[in-house]
Amino acid sequence: MQKGAIKEPKRVLITGCSSGFGLLTAVEAAKTGLEVVATMRNLDKAGPLREALANAGAAVQIEQLDITDAQSAAHAGEKFGPIDILVNNAGILIAGSFLDLTEPECQRVFETNYFGIVRLTRALAAGMIQRRSGRIINIASLAGLVGHPFNSAYAASKHALIGFTQSIRVELAPFGIEVVCVEPGYHKTEIIRSNANQSVNFYDRSSPMFEWNRGFLRAMFDEIIPRAGQPQHVVDRIVKIMTCPKPKAHYTIGKDAAFAMTCKYLGLYPWLEKQVIRKIRKYRRIENRREGEKQNRRKQKQVVQSSGSGQSGKGRNLIL
Ligand SMILES: NC(=O)c1ccc[n+]([C@@H]2O[C@H](COP(=O)([O-])OP(=O)(O)OC[C@H]3O[C@@H](n4cnc5c(N)ncnc54)[C@H](OP(=O)(O)O)[C@@H]3O)[C@@H](O)[C@H]2O)c1
Repeated sequence: MQKGAIKEPKRVLITGCSSGFGLLTAVEAAKTGLEVVATMRNLDKAGPLREALANAGAAVQIEQLDITDAQSAAHAGEKFGPIDILVNNAGILIAGSFLDLTEPECQRVFETNYFGIVRLTRALAAGMIQRRSGRIINIASLAGLVGHPFNSAYAASKHALIGFTQSIRVELAPFGIEVVCVEPGYHKTEIIRSNANQSVNFYDRSSPMFEWNRGFLRAMFDEIIPRAGQPQHVVDRIVKIMTCPKPKAHYTIGKDAAFAMTCKYLGLYPWLEKQVIRKIRKYRRIENRREGEKQNRRKQKQVVQSSGSGQSGKGRNLIL
């Protein structure tokens, strides 16, 4: 057997399987014949995974694991048995300008996207080192390779994750353990829908970033989300990484990611940044116009209501 290749039985642990890449990867890996431990922080959210498994005629072991819970993560090795492949997939995002993100929000992002992953990797790498075999697949992001405006905490945490991945890849190589980084661009999962958290200050009108936050959000809805890729592409790649004899160090996935990285390597990144600024300016203007129209409609409604209730010009002046 090739050094570093995964020996039978191939037992995979995936984090964050309640939705998105994690859920789909658990199903796809089980279909491929891998023994899957699909973990999620809240087992009440296991319904969609169970349904997808039933539709696919596949089975996995579903377990509770919150990677920010230091105790559970530290004991994952004992609890879930020898793991041959670890997929560090769980992640969160909190949008908003860096001026508006609070320190606890930044800490929450790092606690999940960086410290939680380091903790679990430590716990499971110990067994892999003993067995002189294993594979660790970290789901980072294009945001770990370039800036991600209005998502700076997320981008910083993913940069940290890529730095961690590249470092331990070398540390673990002598033990026959391969460490791989996956860097997807935007894909249609819950992280850009129901799990797209915003800073508590996102709509703070006193912030100099108020209009820019809104412009960014409008650009997300009108341009970014409709063009985001299908998650299945990423999932198919992750499963290939699990099973191929010799995976690469990293995989950048998605048209947007390929475009951004091409610009970066051709020295065109400043041009790309200018395009992004132009777009956000455009959507800030659109949002301002929309906001102005909304306020006018509200004022008109109030004027009609106050004149209908027999109030004099005094009331109208108050509104205007
Ligand atoms: N979709 C994209 O455009 C994109 C692009 C680049 C990278 N990524 C990365 O891909 C990974 C998967 O995200 P996704 O796109 O599939 O989004 P998703 O549908 O929102 O899935 C994220 C998963 O992570 C789980 N999670 C969050 N905090 C956790 C914790 N403390 N412990 C355990 N699980 C936790 C979530 O559980 P709950 O349901 O309990 O919240 C959910 O199952 C993330 O690391 C994300 O950063 C996504």
